[in-house]
Amino acid sequence: MEKGRIITGCLAPHPPHLAYASNPQQNEPKASGAGAWQPLLDAYARLRQSLAAHDYDVLVVHTPHWKTRVGHHFLGVPHFEGLSVDPIFPNLFRFHYQLDVDVELAEAICRQAQAEGLVTTMMRNPEFRVDYGTITSSHLVRPQWDLPIVAISSARTYFDYSDEVGEREMLALGRATQHAIEATGRKALLLASASLSHRHFTEEPEDPEDPSFEHIYNPNQAQWDQHVMELMRQGQTRRLLEEMPDFIAQSVSECRDGSLTWLLGALGQAEIPATIHGYGTVIGTGNAVVEWDLAAQEVGA
Ligand SMILES: [Fe+2]
Repeated sequence: MEKGRIITGCLAPHPPHLAYASNPQQNEPKASGAGAWQPLLDAYARLRQSLAAHDYDVLVVHTPHWKTRVGHHFLGVPHFEGLSVDPIFPNLFRFHYQLDVDVELAEAICRQAQAEGLVTTMMRNPEFRVDYGTITSSHLVRPQWDLPIVAISSARTYFDYSDEVGEREMLALGRATQHAIEATGRKALLLASASLSHRHFTEEPEDPEDPSFEHIYNPNQAQWDQHVMELMRQGQTRRLLEEMPDFIAQSVSECRDGSLTWLLGALGQAEIPATIHGYGTVIGTGNAVVEWDLAAQEVGA
């Protein structure tokens, strides 16, 4: 068997507003337009266009919205279907999903993570309701739903111990993911399903599409976003990881659920320049669509 590899890694945030504004047939609520979220929808369109040049056979997603009390969990049933409802925005996201899971790869990552000393569990309940982070990011990146996924939960390490301990665990989980992909011969696309700065409005306007409502909530946090994106652009991955605990603490970042650090760990902390496909706010949070194109690096593009 040929050695597997990670083709591309992406930061792929999951505001349900973006799925809503895309008007997929699976979502019950229908939007009249893109509202203030057009820049982020355009960013995802550019990402999809870039990914169309690559051949891959599985999406591996780390999600902040499947929070597991003890350890890192993996979907472990070949097929799931059901209705996913965003608990905060049930008016925007009621999504009828059907998806397949690459259970063999999930089990391989689970075993490898155990070997790294992490606590892990395979989730074998066929009635399990897949979280909206996994669904939204996967849908925005590949709306065809024609490839299997692997979904990984977010353990509570950052919250129970410290951000530094959480960071170490996520780098270990990233290494485990990379090694399992290589050992199983997969060509994988990795998605870190997270916003950057995450302070958000606590009231919704009468019309959720009202563009006059949408803007950055906290300029200090937005400045952190700009700094973090500049480090990504320059390929300063190690510095980004060194600053991650400060970024998390000072911008209430959703990266505290570990998705971005997992991704950077899986990419081997490669110091390669990322492509920022776009940045925008949703209910005041900062969101960047970012791509680290490992395949292009390998051919020297
Ligand atoms: Fe979220």
